[in-house]
Amino acid sequence: MNTEEKKPKSRRELVRTMGQSGNYWYAMEESKNLKKGKSLEVIFWKSPIALFRGESGKVSAIENRCPHRQLRLTSGIVEGEEIICQYHGWNFDGCGKCTGISHELGKGKGKSELPNIKINSYPVQEKYGLIWVFPGDPALSETVKIPAIPQLDQAEPWEFIPIDVKLKAHYSMMLENVCDFNHAFLHRKFKPFTNPHLKGYRREGDTIWIDYETDMSQSSAVKTAGEKKGAGLEDMTLWYQYPYQGSNTADKYLHWLFMTPIDEKNTRCFFVFLLGPLEIPFINKPVPKFLRKTVIWIANKLYIIPLLGEDTYILSEEMLGQERHPDIQHLEFNPIVGEFQKMSIEKWEEYVHTEALRKKQQKEDKQRYVFTGAGLTKKELRDYNKMLEEKEVAGL
Ligand code: FES
Ligand SMILES: [Fe+2]
Repeated sequence: MNTEEKKPKSRRELVRTMGQSGNYWYAMEESKNLKKGKSLEVIFWKSPIALFRGESGKVSAIENRCPHRQLRLTSGIVEGEEIICQYHGWNFDGCGKCTGISHELGKGKGKSELPNIKINSYPVQEKYGLIWVFPGDPALSETVKIPAIPQLDQAEPWEFIPIDVKLKAHYSMMLENVCDFNHAFLHRKFKPFTNPHLKGYRREGDTIWIDYETDMSQSSAVKTAGEKKGAGLEDMTLWYQYPYQGSNTADKYLHWLFMTPIDEKNTRCFFVFLLGPLEIPFINKPVPKFLRKTVIWIANKLYIIPLLGEDTYILSEEMLGQERHPDIQHLEFNPIVGEFQKMSIEKWEEYVHTEALRKKQQKEDKQRYVFTGAGLTKKELRDYNKMLEEKEVAGL
């Protein structure tokens, strides 16, 4: 017997195999990238989703799979509020219902006379310049909210330009990066933080709060923004508000990170940086309203994007390290890393559990179509249900 295979996975190995709970809203695309009458594919943990914008401007999200022969619907066309498969011309509405068939089978037939064919659809909404999809149990999409960003919800919202980063690494690596300031060495050119000191952290519900003390006076951005030696910017609060991440420094500089896991090696990241008191570099006068977007564009281009580029590069290196040495223990000294991993594992297992029960319930209710949340395979859920049944039989 091969005892090697029996060895339980370490927490790190485990988290790197997991997706994120579908029972949250995920930023999938920037609104501006999906024009009327167009479609595009996005992926939530190995589940391809077709996003399309009808003539009315409304966005729909359905499985990117024609049930006829499993072609990608996004290779077809959008007409009115429907998407039409390129091959035999089957139409699908935003609910995933087949509403038209161009050939003999459906020709001249009204919707009620067509064969009853449907694919999964997902709740979708647009906010903060992003298209958000709820990949899990649609019944929860009403109560679970997109995180509120007060600076963008107020009467005069702060200007921002989302930054879309395609990361070649598992999402947990990005989380462990953004909350671990011990990697100041990597950013020795831009110096976003110097001499960081972790003051403390705590978990409240599904949020982990972290307090850092750090010297920001060396940061080229802080210097350019006219902040006096980073005074008042020594304390930074970060959070992992499952499944989102963010930070706040003196209510002036904030960021949000919205990640969408694609698979074990790829993650789509949308960063929203919020820069409060913008001043014109070097002359230190407030930036007039009409110029703010331009200044943000310049700040993104010259500082934030190159800085994030250092992180995405190093995380692709970490991914390579993991592929080469999957079972060698890390020498991890930052306690936050473990806390994050615990919460990610807990939330993913909760999702698998509730979706397995939902699937079982749909079958018992003899529903015509059994749909479970994106990101889970039928096998995964079957195995999980089997495990639950075995536990029940054993009285556990
Ligand atoms: S494969 Fe889509 S209509 Fe035939
Ligand atoms: Fe970094």
